[in-house]
Amino acid sequence: MKPILLIFFILSGVFVETYQQQQQQPIKTIVVLVLENRSFDHMLGWMKKSVNPAINGVTGKECNRVSTKAEDTETICFSDDAEYVDPDPGHSFEAVEQQVFGSGLVPTMSGFVEQALTMSQNLSETVMKGFRPENVPIYETLIREFAVFDRWFSSIPGPTQPNRLFVYSATSHGSTSHVKKQLAKGYPQRTIFDSVHDSGLDFGIYFQNIPTTLFYRNLRKLKYIFKFHQFDLKFKSDAKNGKLPSLTVIEPRYFDLKGLPANDDHPSHDVANGQKLVKEVYETLRASPQWNETLLVITYDEHGGFYDHVQTPFVNVPNPDGNTGPAPYFFKFDRLGVRVPTIMVSPWIKKGTVIRRPKGPTPNSEFEHSSIPATIKKMFNLSSNFLTHRDAWAGTFEQVVGELTSPRTDCPEVLPDVTPLRSSEADENRGLSEFQGEVVQLGAVLNGDHFLSSFRDEMRTKMNVKEAHEYVRGAVSRFIRASKEAIKLGADESAIVDMSCVKANEELKEIIGLRAILFVKGARLDFEQSAFTSRTGRALILEIHSKSRMSFQTCWKFAEACDVTAARVTKKDDLRVTTQKMLDTPAPYLLDVIVPHQRACLAYDSQWGEPLKT
Ligand SMILES: *[C@@H]1O[C@H](CO)[C@@H](O)[C@H](O)[C@H]1NC(C)=O
Ligand SMILES: *[C@@H]1O[C@H](CO)[C@@H](O)[C@H](O)[C@H]1NC(C)=O
Ligand SMILES: *[C@@H]1O[C@H](CO)[C@@H](O)[C@H](O)[C@H]1NC(C)=O
Ligand SMILES: *[C@@H]1O[C@H](CO)[C@@H](O)[C@H](O)[C@H]1NC(C)=O
Repeated sequence: MKPILLIFFILSGVFVETYQQQQQQPIKTIVVLVLENRSFDHMLGWMKKSVNPAINGVTGKECNRVSTKAEDTETICFSDDAEYVDPDPGHSFEAVEQQVFGSGLVPTMSGFVEQALTMSQNLSETVMKGFRPENVPIYETLIREFAVFDRWFSSIPGPTQPNRLFVYSATSHGSTSHVKKQLAKGYPQRTIFDSVHDSGLDFGIYFQNIPTTLFYRNLRKLKYIFKFHQFDLKFKSDAKNGKLPSLTVIEPRYFDLKGLPANDDHPSHDVANGQKLVKEVYETLRASPQWNETLLVITYDEHGGFYDHVQTPFVNVPNPDGNTGPAPYFFKFDRLGVRVPTIMVSPWIKKGTVIRRPKGPTPNSEFEHSSIPATIKKMFNLSSNFLTHRDAWAGTFEQVVGELTSPRTDCPEVLPDVTPLRSSEADENRGLSEFQGEVVQLGAVLNGDHFLSSFRDEMRTKMNVKEAHEYVRGAVSRFIRASKEAIKLGADESAIVDMSCVKANEELKEIIGLRAILFVKGARLDFEQSAFTSRTGRALILEIHSKSRMSFQTCWKFAEACDVTAARVTKKDDLRVTTQKMLDTPAPYLLDVIVPHQRACLAYDSQWGEPLKT
């Protein structure tokens, strides 16, 4: 009898909740902002002492030994003098394992100092420091006014990218580290954006340098291209006009520039700029006609190597989708990462709320990044299934806005001013961090440069922050423009524009008799200036439908045959006829831009092709 009874209870629980949700759920817009690499104790631990004693923060008695193997070694205890941090503490899968487990079998959170020492002497003290509340004044105010979650974990005990992937898809598809090839290709899993879209709701991504949500392959589809907006141009006006979509994602600035400092909170970036971004977002939402239906969620992808004292959950955490991590660990995705700061803001939240554990859906459910898609599904009553086993398990947080019967009217309109913690200016000549390198790699895919192995190396070694920023900005804008063009030309909405720069190779030379086909900056520049507009009178645009690599040859043949001063856009069917002889498969979509003299061929294909051998 027992199993049947159990099922009955579960079902009736669901019924009651759905009923409440129908009556009360006041939120129509959920705004998500994910910042970078800081633990809960590092950012908010000291708020217990001076802001709210209910918070599970620090007292200063939290210490780590220099060695987790010897009892009599020196200890370093948690202090309140965190400031501007330059070197980036360790947070790879291996590093986090050492931080969390020390040399034991349960998560004692005892190995942060030891792990940091393996990187540098100074870092061991750095990781044991937290900010005094006055140095993170925006959070201090938001925590007094709204809600802090003091038991919210990153989804995996590892670095940025896999954790970021969990935020909108409840899995990292088996990645425990930054897998460059997969990031470039785009992760294949379904996302909460797809679920929101399929239920007829809107979403929008407001980005500053480049939307890292494009690491999900689905988001590169033509049907979503209008969902990407430049934060600086659109966020404030959309908020002011009451046009923020149901799911609004804000991506911080990942590159640190003079006058435009990075605001992702990633070391070495000054957290004061992250504070300014949060302030700007808050004040914008507060002034919006949508304020009374808005919930803002601020969290951090992972702990960035900084100490946290709360043991990471390590039993009964479900594997999302059957994938396991790579050798030698074969991680089963069965424990969570380190606790990170999570703050929520809405006029429906009681002042000074502290939320610890979720109320379900299972007795051991926890808040972690998959709680975001889980809650979006629940609050918006999305008809699609859970994304993975993980969001089905993760705690949902709709109760944070479920306590009041009307929205508050006493929420501050303006937050305190923020003073910089870093005295120096942004160093634009700095080399790229790993994360920035990956963002550039994404830019290269959007731009079609990933075909060029030479470019790949150059990118990693030579670009500085300023160049990288300019590069990705150009790449994103070209990708968006090309996608819009593709839509105009009638491409299918599920297609993905795939820009491919073709480099000269023997095969092509033979066929079209060109001496050089280049993919140099000049060609890209020309493309940008003249393609689609023919401003220089030298651009030629043609559209060819093809699926295979043969299309490049077709493209060149065609170019030879055309008047180079004319711009000619052909129709699908015409081209089918033209290319039929050369192709054995009828094809989805390909747009080629030929710039004579530079002889560049940029092709966009709806399929992810094999890179041409260069
Ligand atoms: C939620 O969705 C279900 C069907 O998917 C529908 O029957 C129900 O009315 C919806 N509830 C609300 C509050 O929209
Ligand atoms: C460590 O700190 C000292 C003094 O604060 C500084 O001079 C030195 O450059 C630091 N070393 C590293 C590796 O950061
Ligand atoms: C955040 O972590 C990623 C890897 O997880 C790393 O590439 C990046 O440099 C880190 N950023 C900070 C601020 O530590
Ligand atoms: C929000 O609701 C409060 C209380 O009902 C009301 O006073 C206020 O004008 C509303 N604000 C907006 C922007 O609609």
